[in-house]
Amino acid sequence: MNRHFSIPKNFEDSIAAALASHKLTLQDSKALAKNVLMLSDFFIQNPDGQTPWHQSFAQIAYLSYYLPLNAARLRAVTQEGAKRNFFAELENVIDFGAGLATASLALSETQNLQYTLIEVASEPQKIIETHFKDFKAQEWIRTFSAGRLKNPKKTLALFSYSLTELNDLPEWAAECEAVMIVEPSTQQDGRKLMALRQRLLEKGYHAWAPCTHEGPCPLLTQSKNDWCHDRIHFDAPEWFQRMEEHLPMKNRTLTTSYLLMRKTAPEKIEAARVVGDTLKEKGKDRQMICRGPDREFLAWLHKNKNSQEIPRGVLVKIPNDIQKVSNELRVQTEVELF
Ligand SMILES: C[S@@+](CC[C@H](N)C(=O)[O-])C[C@H]1O[C@@H](n2cnc3c(N)ncnc32)[C@H](O)[C@@H]1O
Repeated sequence: MNRHFSIPKNFEDSIAAALASHKLTLQDSKALAKNVLMLSDFFIQNPDGQTPWHQSFAQIAYLSYYLPLNAARLRAVTQEGAKRNFFAELENVIDFGAGLATASLALSETQNLQYTLIEVASEPQKIIETHFKDFKAQEWIRTFSAGRLKNPKKTLALFSYSLTELNDLPEWAAECEAVMIVEPSTQQDGRKLMALRQRLLEKGYHAWAPCTHEGPCPLLTQSKNDWCHDRIHFDAPEWFQRMEEHLPMKNRTLTTSYLLMRKTAPEKIEAARVVGDTLKEKGKDRQMICRGPDREFLAWLHKNKNSQEIPRGVLVKIPNDIQKVSNELRVQTEVELF
């Protein structure tokens, strides 16, 4: 199961070309890291501030750090969506708060759709049009409202790290057939997203991923602390690792919280989502799964010598011979990926 993501060559070439306009190369590790820290400090001092796109430090930081990391997260979410046929029959994407078109760039690598980018700042459009030539946007717009929606039944409303400050979906998005939301995997943002899932279900949307069911979310209703999030491996190229040597944060694995919902119902599946890392405990290993309103764990008893580590975020088939003991599903035969 491939849960490893990196930076594709053409993507890296575009980043390098954009950095050249700031007289930097991918090898200028220390200078790149300095700009990343400046943007990170900016957000610490202005938690609700808009990305200062007019400043070159923000452009450099986004290009060399946030863009490759967020694009990897978006590729993983897209892969999970595609496995469930989530993008079938969609034609248009409205990428709200697009920034450097991060989500659309990643999605367009596998999904041939028409991309409209909504971005209040003008600099990102210029950077993408000049340096990311493989990507063709339908149009860039500074602000969006319901009246501009042309084809809602075939439209995906896409929010990548852009819903944080809004409490609910904007009015126009609720008219769209599909919504794809990716949020920082913090407890606060993650739980807010799970609450939004519940409101969208009540409005008639269906949950496609990560959820495998439409009952109450067990991480929300049966815990005060949990939040649903995925984890992928980021195989950073050498230049990225060298830049990271000058940064306090390391990114060998990346987490993300996401939600894919449509007005049409998904095909029913007999599967569970692995929503936890392996927990090594006395006498057993456990991994949390989600397949209904109960908080449940797959458990491998050490005495059975059948240990297994399943990548967090994938779908699995629950074997028929599982032994259920309270909230534990004790594994006898190998758990297969869906
Ligand atoms: C955190 S960034 C996310 C960028 C990108 N989607 C990503 O995943 O990397 C949020 C972006 O939303 C833009 N933005 C904020 N409010 C907006 C609004 N009302 N309309 C359009 N864009 C907005 C900001 O300029 C910024 O580029």
